[in-house]
Amino acid sequence: MPAPSLIFISRDDRYPRWHPALEAALPGIEVRCWPDGEEPRAGITYAIVWHPPHGVLARFPGLKAIFSVGAGVDHIFADPELPQHVPVVRLVDETLTGQMSEYVVLHVLRHHRRQPEYDAQQTDRVWRVLPCPPAADRRIGILGLGVLGLDAARKLKALGFSVAGWSRSKKDEPGIECYSGREELPAFLASCDIAVCLLPRTPETRGLLDAQMLAHLPWGAALINAARGGLVDEEALLAALENGRIGGATLDVFAAEPLPQDHLFWRHPRVTITPHIAAITNPASAARIIAANIERIEAGQTPLHIASRDRLY
Ligand code: NAP
Ligand code: GLV
Repeated sequence: MPAPSLIFISRDDRYPRWHPALEAALPGIEVRCWPDGEEPRAGITYAIVWHPPHGVLARFPGLKAIFSVGAGVDHIFADPELPQHVPVVRLVDETLTGQMSEYVVLHVLRHHRRQPEYDAQQTDRVWRVLPCPPAADRRIGILGLGVLGLDAARKLKALGFSVAGWSRSKKDEPGIECYSGREELPAFLASCDIAVCLLPRTPETRGLLDAQMLAHLPWGAALINAARGGLVDEEALLAALENGRIGGATLDVFAAEPLPQDHLFWRHPRVTITPHIAAITNPASAARIIAANIERIEAGQTPLHIASRDRLY
């Protein structure tokens, strides 16, 4: 059997940060970077990818697995020429999970404690106390109770919030009110003072939070989207911010990234923007996780965290 070799495929400049991590975690494996290291293609057995250009993965007939640089795999399934027989593997890394929960807790607390309003008051030199309910009376709803959503939900629960979650399949998580399926989405949304989106982007979730769904939120609710652009209808969100249905939004992800200079979100007084940084993959820990999975495959075992070809996440 030929020695395994790996290609890193990304359209941006992240490889220099990954190279030393991959060399350290995979000492016996030849590591190359696309497009320079593309030939000979047949000998390449593993690919680590972030937004691979469509059709590139199909050029490697020897692939045994395709690893995502991040938790999301929508950027891989978007490729119409994606090889059908090769497993697509999600990144499940507690370093990344911890970062996402930090982001969610930070922004839930900002909305809960009305910090954006105090920031605005400071600009105007206004000294005014704004009422704030106890955490137990603040209802936080997490859309997506997967690896990231569940960790964030547990940490928010530990802070004393009233926490609910919504997922495709019903969950049974102590202390967390669990909703599932499209039919329970309106009731779930109606119970969210602060809604946090941690869903994958799939054909089912794209545009999920449209005008009709946003209208189920209580008046003045806050929305945090740390998942993917395209899950929230941006026009509908702007309209909901205007009519007061949504009191404030924290957005890390957008339909178009980077967010276009002329987008109305940039100037909106009740929108906080971050540049897709809620959870940034740590190359060192991710490389170790990928290495452990390659070891499993080379030993004839199934890799952990294969994304479903049916559900596309
Ligand atoms: P995951 O473990 O696959 O969890 C996904 C959750 O969403 C699951 O609970 C799943 O339900 C639920 N879900 C999927 N489709 C659904 C549907 N149609 N209706 C209801 N629930 C649905 O994913 P994860 O690791 O938590 O990551 C979630 C997403 O976060 C990623 O896909 C990525 O897009 C995003 N992300 C963003 C950043 C950032 O920096 N902004 C960083 C990392 C990840 P079941 O449990 O029933 O399957
Ligand atoms: C980042 O967006 C990820 O999917 O990990």
